[in-house]
Amino acid sequence: MRVTVNLIILYVAVAAAANNQARIPIPAGIHPQVAALLRAGNLQRYTQTCAGTILNNRSVLTAARCVSDGRDVDEPNLWRFRVGSSRWDIGGDVYLVRNIIINDFDQWSMMNDVAVLRSAGTIVFGPNVQPGQFAGSDYFLQNNQAISTVGWGYLGFPLWYPKNYSELQRVQLWTIDVNICRQSYFAEGFYVQNSMICSGFINPNAVAGASVRDRCFGEPGAPMFHSNVVVGIRSYGLSCMSNAAIPSINTRVSSHIDWIISNA
Ligand SMILES: *[C@@H]1O[C@H](CO)[C@@H](O)[C@H](O)[C@H]1NC(C)=O
Ligand SMILES: *[C@@H]1O[C@H](CO)[C@@H](O)[C@H](O)[C@H]1NC(C)=O
Repeated sequence: MRVTVNLIILYVAVAAAANNQARIPIPAGIHPQVAALLRAGNLQRYTQTCAGTILNNRSVLTAARCVSDGRDVDEPNLWRFRVGSSRWDIGGDVYLVRNIIINDFDQWSMMNDVAVLRSAGTIVFGPNVQPGQFAGSDYFLQNNQAISTVGWGYLGFPLWYPKNYSELQRVQLWTIDVNICRQSYFAEGFYVQNSMICSGFINPNAVAGASVRDRCFGEPGAPMFHSNVVVGIRSYGLSCMSNAAIPSINTRVSSHIDWIISNA
C-alpha cells in the first residue's frame, strides 16, 4: 500500500542571506523542525547522538550512519527523539521510535546516507514543533551559497573541547564546489558523489582547532538549511573545522527526495 504523505517540498531555490554568523546558541522555536536523536547503548540512559528533521507527523529524517553500520540496522528501541526544545536533555516532547528505514546505505562510500525514523506516536505540532521544508528534485544549489547548520555536537576539536549540553547551536557555512571537494577527499581515498553537498568555512587563514565555526562529532543527521529549506543532511567530515580545503560532506536532499517522500 502506498501511503500518501504531505511533505512540504520546494522546487525553486530561494535566495539565502549571508549573515556571517559564527556558531551561536539557538532558542526553542527558531528551528521547530529540528529533532534531537537520543540513543541508549544499554536501554537506560538516552543521550544525544545525532540530529534529525521532522518530515511529517510520524517521521523524522536523519543520516543512515546514525542507525546502521552498513550491515545491521539498530533496533528501534535503542532510539528516542526530542522535539520542541532547544535542549536535547530537557523540555519539549520525547517520542519512542517504532521503525527505522534505510536505503542501501554503504558505510565505506557513504552512499545513501539517509534514514527515516518512524515515531511510535503522532508528533504533535505547535509553535516549537513543525515539519521542515525540503528541497525538491529540481532544487538547484549553487557553489559558495550561504547555508546554515544546527546541532548539539561538540563545539570543536580536539574532543576535550567542552560539549555544550544545553542549547542547540547554529553555524553559518558555505557550499563548496564538488570538484574542489572531490580533489581534497580523493587524497584521503574517498570519492565525493554528486548526491553529496560539500560545505565549509571559506577562510584561508583558519587553522584546525582554532575555530568553532563548524559542526563536529555528534552531529550526523543534522539538517543543512539554505534559507529555511532543508537541502542537506550532515553525513561525514574529516575534521571539525571544515574549510575550503577539507569541507564537510552532506547528503544532498534533492537527490533522495523521492525515496524520502515514499518512506516518510
Ligand atoms: C497526520 O498527518 C496526516 C497527513 O497530513 C493527516 O491526514 C492525519 O490526520 C494526521 N494525524 C493526526 C493524528 O493528526
Ligand atoms: C552553551 O550554551 C549556553 C546557553 O545558551 C551559553 O550561555 C554558553 O555560552 C554556551 N557555552 C559555550 C561553551 O558555548
